[in-house]
Amino acid sequence: MTTQTEAAALDGLRDALGLLKDREQVAERLLDSSAKHSFDPDKELDWDAPFEDGKWFWPPELVSLYDTPLWKRMGEEQRILLSQHEAAALASLGIWFELILMQLLVRHVYDKAATSAHVRYALTEIEDECRHSKMFARLISRGGTPWYPVSRVHQNMGRLFKTISTTPSSFTATLLGEEVLDWMQRLTFPDERVQTLVRGVTRIHVVEEARHVRYAREELRRQMVTAPRWSQEYTRVTSGEFARIFSVAFVNPEVYTNVGLDRREALAQVKASGHRREVMQTGAKRLTDFLDDIGVLRGAGRRLWKASGLLA
Ligand SMILES: [Fe+2]
Ligand SMILES: [Fe+2]
Repeated sequence: MTTQTEAAALDGLRDALGLLKDREQVAERLLDSSAKHSFDPDKELDWDAPFEDGKWFWPPELVSLYDTPLWKRMGEEQRILLSQHEAAALASLGIWFELILMQLLVRHVYDKAATSAHVRYALTEIEDECRHSKMFARLISRGGTPWYPVSRVHQNMGRLFKTISTTPSSFTATLLGEEVLDWMQRLTFPDERVQTLVRGVTRIHVVEEARHVRYAREELRRQMVTAPRWSQEYTRVTSGEFARIFSVAFVNPEVYTNVGLDRREALAQVKASGHRREVMQTGAKRLTDFLDDIGVLRGAGRRLWKASGLLA
């Protein structure tokens, strides 16, 4: 006769096996899609074509100063120049995220069977991210703008985080890094006002990134069910803290100085901009809805999200 404890243990085992099967199925589908739709940016894009006169490097509505009093005083040429520097700052930020993510993925699969689809997909995603980081770096060099690293403090916080973070908190950070930029890139690649090269880069990134978002979401959903209580609570608080860092690090303030603007004035106007707040909240909406759904946006974590300005 089975005791109640044994029955509960069997149920738990069945659930765990179900989750593992689901994990493998998701990974198999992502591997299939990677085999069909992966791009080599060095061959796919025309890197030697000259930039087109009068075209933007980022859609104007997504430039941080858009619609502020300062923006209204700027001429078209200076606005386009700012769009170029912001695109370079976001590409630099993208590389920072991707380097962190690659390390998190390596840590995630370190002790798992390399024959599983789940691990093989993680390795495929690392390959994608290597190509993306090289593509972003090439885009920055091609434009002749500087490389815009995040601040020393954020660099060191990233160094610590990628070394010690737990699995669910790693996947939450991944989604934060991927989803807001992805939302902006989905508006960029079809936009005919934007430079062809920038449209090509964002198109490749959007196609390959959709798989990464799927992988991270499915894993995080499973993790929030199976992780111990302390780890779930830790995920809520750290994700709120990332949201805060993310919103500060999003655009490197050096861009304003480099296009001839007063940095303090520009920062103050971005902070006061209702349009900017709406852009950032709309960009984060798909992610915050998902995190709310799986129970990440609760308690102290939720308050930090609100303070970051990304959650209405
Ligand atoms: Fe990427
Ligand atoms: Fe990615």
